[in-house]
Amino acid sequence: MNNDIAKVLLDETQIAAVVDGIAEKINKDYKNEELVVVGILKGSIMFLADMFRRLEVSCSLDFMAASSYGSSAVSSGKVTIEKDLSSDIKGKHVLVVEDILDTGNTLSYIKDYLKEKEPLSVKICTLFDKPSRRQKPINPDYVGRTIPDLFIVGYGLDYNEKYRNLSYIGVLKPEIYS
Ligand code: XMP
Ligand code: MG
Repeated sequence: MNNDIAKVLLDETQIAAVVDGIAEKINKDYKNEELVVVGILKGSIMFLADMFRRLEVSCSLDFMAASSYGSSAVSSGKVTIEKDLSSDIKGKHVLVVEDILDTGNTLSYIKDYLKEKEPLSVKICTLFDKPSRRQKPINPDYVGRTIPDLFIVGYGLDYNEKYRNLSYIGVLKPEIYS
């Protein structure tokens, strides 16, 4: 199922198995708790939609969007909130859902920002983790797959806003971005 732009890393069946596994853990950990799930736009949308409907705990849904400035090669680590929460998380358990944890700049900023709102807890759930590129001391509480330093697209993940619509997750071929 390889195509012109990406080599398949996870196909639809494999993605579903990974998402099931994460949802199962969350269901166990938050049993009898109330949870606010916060999706980070836009990359998390497919993962969030599939994972959220597998949750069996009492939960609400909110979104945030953030951008980090600097070129992709030299991240400045400066993060700006472009869309804030529309609900109050004070005294609530929060689960942040992200597509991929890379340098950690985005999620460590978001986590600190959310903590100021006095939630009961803040945990991080990410479909992918690239720990080799980390610049901030942040680790996910739930992770689908840990990957080496590859650029991946599909299932919500983009390259210059393209390829989010792929039903699989693929490693972008170097000729596309070089
Ligand atoms: P940091 O570096 O702050 O950034 O952890 C995480 C964000 O960087 C993007 N990112 C990727 N997007 N394929 C993508 O489509 C990748 O391999 C990749 N690596 C990082 C992504 O927007 C993520 O939220
Ligand atoms: Mg993203």
